[in-house]
Amino acid sequence: MNLQNNTILITGGASGIGFALAQRLREAGSDVIICGRRADKLREAQDKVSGLHIYECDLAQATDRAELARQVQADFPALNVLINNAGIQNRFQLADLPPSLEAWEEQRQEIAINFEAPIHLTALLLPHLRQQPNPVVINVSSGLAFAPMAAAPIYSATKAALHSFTLSLRQQLVSVGVSVLEIVPPGVNTDLGGPGLHTWAVPVDEFADSIVARLAAGEQEIGYGTSEKIRQASRAELDARFEQINSH
Ligand SMILES: NC(=O)c1ccc[n+]([C@@H]2O[C@H](COP(=O)([O-])OP(=O)(O)OC[C@H]3O[C@@H](n4cnc5c(N)ncnc54)[C@H](OP(=O)(O)O)[C@@H]3O)[C@@H](O)[C@H]2O)c1
Repeated sequence: MNLQNNTILITGGASGIGFALAQRLREAGSDVIICGRRADKLREAQDKVSGLHIYECDLAQATDRAELARQVQADFPALNVLINNAGIQNRFQLADLPPSLEAWEEQRQEIAINFEAPIHLTALLLPHLRQQPNPVVINVSSGLAFAPMAAAPIYSATKAALHSFTLSLRQQLVSVGVSVLEIVPPGVNTDLGGPGLHTWAVPVDEFADSIVARLAAGEQEIGYGTSEKIRQASRAELDARFEQINSH
């Protein structure tokens, strides 16, 4: 992927991995638009990276996705790259879930944000993207797509689904000239799942430097460290990884 002269929408780009990508892609010479729910985080990101464009939206809501797509296309007709990065991670035991509709609605958000939103936003923007030079869709999945963490059962399943969807989308879009790429992060030190849960993990800048270099080199599916191994693992290796992740 050529990193210069793109117009890139990064969902969830005000923090963590999304922000680290926004910084680097902006530095490389692209126009970068980010979105998220927290206005203060969006403004903070804008203060740190000059020229960053921001939109407030809740990607769990289909109406917000449609409005975001409409606004971004109107404001940035050159939009040619979508990075589906926004995500949440909930840890829970299904056996402890109260049998109320409210409790289910809370769990359902994770499916809506992590899986529904990338599909819907891609569908909304595809007619526009495919008319631009060098159109690209990048989905951010996870090493947990390949070997799930039982403590985050919906999260892991949404990422496995997103990986599967990415393969199908890539195949479908070959004929229309849209590149479909996948970033497969390992544990990265961000606030995913809540502050402090990922302090043991890979520093976000180290991770993002490697990802951006490999995007520039033209790779389609990019992991880092453990996720680079796991995305290519055999079934026996995946079973061993599952045991390792879930043994404590
Ligand atoms: N960190 C890791 O260990 C790790 C590992 C594998 C994969 N990933 C994936 O990497 C991606 C980025 O996560 P991260 O680690 O950088 O965590 P993060 O810092 O919490 O970033 C997630 C971003 O998504 C945005 N977001 C969440 N729900 C949203 C919604 N309903 N509408 C719009 N924006 C929403 C958040 O902004 P608001 O809260 O302001 O909306 C936030 O900016 C996620 O897809 C995650 O699953 C991370």
